[in-house]
Amino acid sequence: MRTQEHIPVRLQDYRPYPFSISHVSLVFDLHPTRTIVTSRLIIDRKPHEWAKGEALQLDGVGLDLLSVEINGQPVAAQDYHLGEDGLTLKSVPDSFKLETKVAINPAANTALSGLYMSAGRFCTQCEAEGFRHITFWPDRPDVMSRFHVRVEAPEADFPSLLSNGNRVAIGQYDDGRHWAAWDDPHLKPSYLFALVAGGFDTLEDQFTTRSGRTVDLCIYVDKGAASRAIYAMDALKRSMTWDEEVFGREYDLDMFNIVAVSDFNFGAMENKGLNIFNSALLLADETTATDADYEAIEAVVAHEYFHNWSGNRVTCRDWFQLSLKEGFTVFRDQEFSADQRSRAVKRIKDVKALRARQFPEDSGPLAHPVRPKSYVKIDNFYTATIYEKGAEIIRVLQTLVGRDAFLEGANLYFDENDGTAATIEDWLHAMRTATGNQLHGIERWYDQAGTPCLEAISDYDAATQKLTIRFQQSTPDTPGQSSKSWVPLPISMAFFGPDGAPLQLRLAETDIAADDWLIPMASTSLELQFEGVADRPVVSYMRGFSAPVRLITNHSDADLALLAACDTDPFVRWESTQTIARNTLLSVAQSLAAGREPDVRQDLARAFQGALADAARDPAFTALLLRLPDVSELMQLQPLCDPSNLLAARAFVRSLLAEQLDAELSACFAIYDPAQAFSASAQAAGQRALMAACLDLLCASGTDRAAMRAENTFFAARNMTDMMTALDGLSQFGGARYHAALAAFKQRFTDNALVMDKWFRVQAMALCEDPLQTFKNLRVDPSFTLLNPNRVRALGGAFASGNPAAFHRVDGTGYQAIADLIADVDSTNGALAARLGTVFESCSRVNEPRQKLAKRTLQVLLDRNSLSANTREILSKIYDGLIA
Ligand code: PHE
Ligand code: ZN
Repeated sequence: MRTQEHIPVRLQDYRPYPFSISHVSLVFDLHPTRTIVTSRLIIDRKPHEWAKGEALQLDGVGLDLLSVEINGQPVAAQDYHLGEDGLTLKSVPDSFKLETKVAINPAANTALSGLYMSAGRFCTQCEAEGFRHITFWPDRPDVMSRFHVRVEAPEADFPSLLSNGNRVAIGQYDDGRHWAAWDDPHLKPSYLFALVAGGFDTLEDQFTTRSGRTVDLCIYVDKGAASRAIYAMDALKRSMTWDEEVFGREYDLDMFNIVAVSDFNFGAMENKGLNIFNSALLLADETTATDADYEAIEAVVAHEYFHNWSGNRVTCRDWFQLSLKEGFTVFRDQEFSADQRSRAVKRIKDVKALRARQFPEDSGPLAHPVRPKSYVKIDNFYTATIYEKGAEIIRVLQTLVGRDAFLEGANLYFDENDGTAATIEDWLHAMRTATGNQLHGIERWYDQAGTPCLEAISDYDAATQKLTIRFQQSTPDTPGQSSKSWVPLPISMAFFGPDGAPLQLRLAETDIAADDWLIPMASTSLELQFEGVADRPVVSYMRGFSAPVRLITNHSDADLALLAACDTDPFVRWESTQTIARNTLLSVAQSLAAGREPDVRQDLARAFQGALADAARDPAFTALLLRLPDVSELMQLQPLCDPSNLLAARAFVRSLLAEQLDAELSACFAIYDPAQAFSASAQAAGQRALMAACLDLLCASGTDRAAMRAENTFFAARNMTDMMTALDGLSQFGGARYHAALAAFKQRFTDNALVMDKWFRVQAMALCEDPLQTFKNLRVDPSFTLLNPNRVRALGGAFASGNPAAFHRVDGTGYQAIADLIADVDSTNGALAARLGTVFESCSRVNEPRQKLAKRTLQVLLDRNSLSANTREILSKIYDGLIA
């Protein structure tokens, strides 16, 4: 029943809550199947006219109400209304104490929102609307309170009892139960509440803040895993230092705890003083984690820690403002990683991720503004747009006002809004006040969906020695939004002469001359003229990716080759190489589709040759240069595409490169010594990444020699990164070698769920053999489970987004397989199923026969009455965008 729509929440309907709740005291009597939660609230009606006579409405879902009292007196049944989604008390005094007692069943909570059990422990997830599954409460971020929490449980099974803030008391009962009391002195909304109870090993440390406060740091992990938290602890301390040094922000409690859990819907959660992490983003050592894992752990530990200011001390007024904390915090963690590692490499990786996840979202049926106008399920709005595009907007802002002014603005924002729930207007107000820059049009970045397109056409006139550049920007229509206006775009530029040397140019009719230009474009079109230009320059645009746009230029192949070889900005060097690769791949795809023998230009091989010759200078950067755009990226460039054609083109070009560059790739590959001692440093990781990029291309040759190299690499590997590099290589061949390696891998790591996720992922993404059959086999593998989100993503997510030609099989069986998985997951975890459902978004880019099959598959899913609201919201939007 596609008609069974759920009512959306709209930004324009925002009303402040009529009551304030200064204090809340919670008592948790923990029991896996029947936990009793007693809540005592001190409530005051707000002293405004509009608050007069308002009923007290509390959210609450799936709670078994045992009692409700006002000022110690039971409330009669006719004086309250208990509905599906909450409790309403029609007439309440202006100031009173409310006590409710409810029973909940954490063991039955498979949706992992609210209080649930993971591996025999209690834990919570309250963002965005999980708290209403725990107790009756106005579950919205603008209701902020002081929380006092008492946790009681049997000591033998649950030795650690944790909540937010500082531990203020502990005690024991005679019956083997014990308790701990926690007080969080900082006002917070319910989504930042957390509770954990269970048995853990811990890794402890201390941090002294700039002002001399000593903070006890503790990471709680599975028994035996403490040594795998060392890297996360180190990242935490570096994050604490960084936020003091760069943003001037200190930590504000006596303790900071992190808990790793194995069942978690997202990456991690910034609960005040008690961060909860998906163990995949916390645990690492060289034998079980790849370099990508280390990098992600560093970034996510920092991200959650940084939320202490951008999110917790200053929170969001409503969920429409989500990017206020998420975009800003992603920006902060990106800057942190850039400072810890290589800034250029970090920027390229961030842009790659933006293009892989956010650009398609922004150009398809799920496109929405960074500040949406409405939503059905807020869990569905934890998107790449809110996070990554949100971070790009912050970066645009920083580029427009300059780093120092930006930091002053951020400082003012923190100071002005400390302890409150703020809006994007509050943020912009602080920025404008501190910088004096009016930032005209910046709101449109928040309100307009769609990736702006920037066209830059340069024209050199040798006779007059003038260079003219015409810029034109436009933002495409997106579902429900058309006629968009310009957005402020900082255009970072430089010029290079025919010899590749940087050129200083002079702006016409001025005496402004410079090597590097920053043009703040604040209009639909803009024309720049430079005078006295002796030779035709090549323009380097959007250096460092100075704004999140799709750039179209009139660069010739030769211009791109020159920038790829000579640009002083590593981003543009990489980007130019990618552009050459994209052009090559698309033209090969066209030839193949037309049954013609592709005629491959030599620019790409030459660019790769240049990269390899220079590999020693920056191995991590070279490794990025050597990776061709993947099929999903190509799908975005070709409307109504055939993914198998794009895959064939990619395979064709890769095997050609492997053949042409065999000597260079082999030489570069051979430099790597698999026996060298492990270091997690960015530099060491760069060497591994370079080896991996070489092996990956070498394997594209399909030769036995390459397969043996991959096999040798696998058995010589001393760390997980090299092991996965080798498995990836072997997966290009399939056959006995690949399966022997997979079996050895499984045997060695069968008890480590995080490593087994990699075993699933590599197979789900493998192009060899019959990928769909592989998927189906793994689906019934005894170690597959629908209940663990990491496992579901490692198989379903990896197959649907990492194996596009198989997912988009022309017979529709790939769609069917994923639809079946979504239906199964949806019955236990709607938020996870909905997220998995977003993979169908790519169907809006495939050709008509495929779209029709996808639409029919979705129709069947949407016809299920039982489908969760989460999954229904995502799938019906995608459905509406597909060709019938
Ligand atoms: N707020 C979390 C973050 O740091 C993400 C999250 C959202 C986690 C919802 C769980 C549930 O990005
Ligand atoms: Zn976040």
